Amino acid sequence: MKIPITRPWFDDTEEKAVLEVLRSGWIAQGEKVRRLEELFAAYVERKYAVAVSSGTAALHLAVLTCKLGPGDEVLVPAFTWISTINAVEYSGATPVFCDIDPFSFNIDVEETKKRITSRTRAILPVHQFGLGADLNSVMRLAAEKSLLVIEDAACALGTYVERKHVGTYGQIGCFSFHPRKSITTGEGGVLVTNEAKDYESFLQLRNIGAATTPGDRTGMADFGALGFNYRMTDLQAAVGIAQFDKLSAILEKRRQCAKRYDDLIQGSSLQEWLQIPVQPKAREHSYQSYVTKIKTSDRSAEHLNAMREKRNDLIARLAVEGIQARPGTHAPPFLSYYRNKYQTHLQDYPHALEAEWLTIALPLYPQMTEGDQELVCSRLQSLWTGT
Ligand SMILES: Cc1ncc(COP(=O)(O)O)c(C=O)c1O
Repeated sequence: MKIPITRPWFDDTEEKAVLEVLRSGWIAQGEKVRRLEELFAAYVERKYAVAVSSGTAALHLAVLTCKLGPGDEVLVPAFTWISTINAVEYSGATPVFCDIDPFSFNIDVEETKKRITSRTRAILPVHQFGLGADLNSVMRLAAEKSLLVIEDAACALGTYVERKHVGTYGQIGCFSFHPRKSITTGEGGVLVTNEAKDYESFLQLRNIGAATTPGDRTGMADFGALGFNYRMTDLQAAVGIAQFDKLSAILEKRRQCAKRYDDLIQGSSLQEWLQIPVQPKAREHSYQSYVTKIKTSDRSAEHLNAMREKRNDLIARLAVEGIQARPGTHAPPFLSYYRNKYQTHLQDYPHALEAEWLTIALPLYPQMTEGDQELVCSRLQSLWTGT
């Protein structure tokens, strides 16, 4: 692709870091992972950070650490990457889908209130595409109803709500280092918490359930929990440490690119049909993705479906020209596993449906030039209008 949806920013620092680990002979979880965890905890201002093999693994361990399971209901947004929901499902707890706010794409707290029952134990807000959710309302609701809060901050390293880093409002925050995130380790994730007991649980569960206290004289630990191999390698962590040095530059460049798209769209005919991402006051955006939405006043299923077809056609034609765009993300209640299991209907989550059908994530990465962005915008307009 000439202009991919994302492109990690690597240079010889990452190469040297990986080589150093290779030459050291210690490539599994070790000192580099510990160092990455220290950097992460300090950055988000949390006592503990534990690195794992993916953001999905982080969410899974968060749900297990909160002891959610069969009979418990967990409030989740109806528009998010499927991992958010799968983490709840793995535990045997029931995900309860809540519609989203149509502009911020984050969970709609008023909708969420309507879904609370005597079984509701937790709420799992997502900071979608790098925009902080309405955490003040989420935390107020959680306090009123005695709910646990696990934040899915997979997309949100560098995102703040009222100057406090997201992922640090709830009991546990979960992050991802997938290549589409601001910094990457290839695959990887992190859990953060201020609770020592959660920290102990993360350490044990990521290491196949091995006790964290020293084992017997042979060095073999006892296994007191059913854990997983969710460890991160030192190779990955070394990349993560090198990426951390670039984090503020990456975030700044991403914000600059986002602002440039805002200006290009709003200063052209694109603004007649394309809505730019919103940034509510005091909720900073780190633009993990720059997600636009096709404007429409006709909300009939027929019209929305026609717009979806036109959007898909646009994305396919852009790809032919070497420009990679994508739908924002999924509405998991409409994916067949969840649709079949929970008998969901399209009309149950109208804003999530609209977001799934009408969003377009544009390419965004720190190395993008003004020329790249101008080309994306001009091709968008021509292909949409057929001119
Ligand atoms: C909102 C959200 N949650 C969870 C995940 C899962 O992260 P990972 O891909 O690292 O497993 C992603 C990532 O793609 C995500 O976008």
